[in-house]
Amino acid sequence: MRLDKYTAKALGLSRSQARDAIRAGRILLNGEVCRAPDAHVPEGAAVACGETLLCAKQFVYIMLDKPKGVVSAAEDAHDTTVVDLVRPAFPRRNLFPAGRLDKTSTGFVLLTDDGAFAHDILAPGRHVEKVYSVLLDTPLTPEMIAGFSAGVQLADGSRMLPAQARPGGQGPCSAQVVLHQGVYHQIKRMFGVYGAGVQELRRTAIGGVALDEKLGPGGWRELTEAELACLQAKRS
Ligand code: URA
Repeated sequence: MRLDKYTAKALGLSRSQARDAIRAGRILLNGEVCRAPDAHVPEGAAVACGETLLCAKQFVYIMLDKPKGVVSAAEDAHDTTVVDLVRPAFPRRNLFPAGRLDKTSTGFVLLTDDGAFAHDILAPGRHVEKVYSVLLDTPLTPEMIAGFSAGVQLADGSRMLPAQARPGGQGPCSAQVVLHQGVYHQIKRMFGVYGAGVQELRRTAIGGVALDEKLGPGGWRELTEAELACLQAKRS
C-alpha cells in the first residue's frame, strides 16, 4: 500500500490531508521520516505518527450491542442507525450491518466494510447460527419446542429450517432460540404460529461468537483476532 493511502486509512484523513502530513515530515516509515506520499509500505513495516504506531487495516469488524429504537441500516432519514453509533470513530469507512435486527430488538449486530465477508456470513447456504434470548407473553411449551425442531410453517405457507427452542432459564416465559437462517421477523412469526407474542428479543451470539455483555447498550468494540477467525471459518 502507498504511504498516503496507509496514513489516510489509519488516521481517518482524506488522501490530501494525509499527503500534507507526510510532506510536513510527521510520518515515520520504519523509524525514519518519509516525505514521499507515494512511498511503498512493505508488509510488516512500522508506520508511525510521532510516538504513535499506525495501523491501517484493510477492513474493520465491529461487535455492537444494539439498543432498542436504533435501526439496522447504514443511513436512515428519521432514526438513529447502528452505523451512526460508531461513525465518529470511523469517519471514512463505509460501514454497514452484516445482518439485521428489528428496531425493537437488542443485542449483537456485526458491522463491517468487508462486503465479501458479509455476503458469505449472510449467504443462505452457509446456515451461520444465531442465538437469541426471547421473552414471551406466554410460557414456552413442548409443542413450540417440537415444532421449532421440525421446522415451523409460517402463516404465509413458507416452511422454516429446523431451529432450536429451549427454556431460557429466566422463568417459564423465557426461551433461548437458535436460528440457522435469517427471515424477516422470523422469531416473532414462528412464535406467532403458536399464538405467542414476543415481548423482548436479544441476539446473544453469531456464528459461535458471543456478544460481549460488558459493552452495554450502544457499546461496541472491534472483534478480537480469535473472534474474527471463528467467523472467517464459517465462510468456507
Ligand atoms: N427474529 C425477529 O423476529 N426479529 C429479530 O430482530 C431477529 C429475529
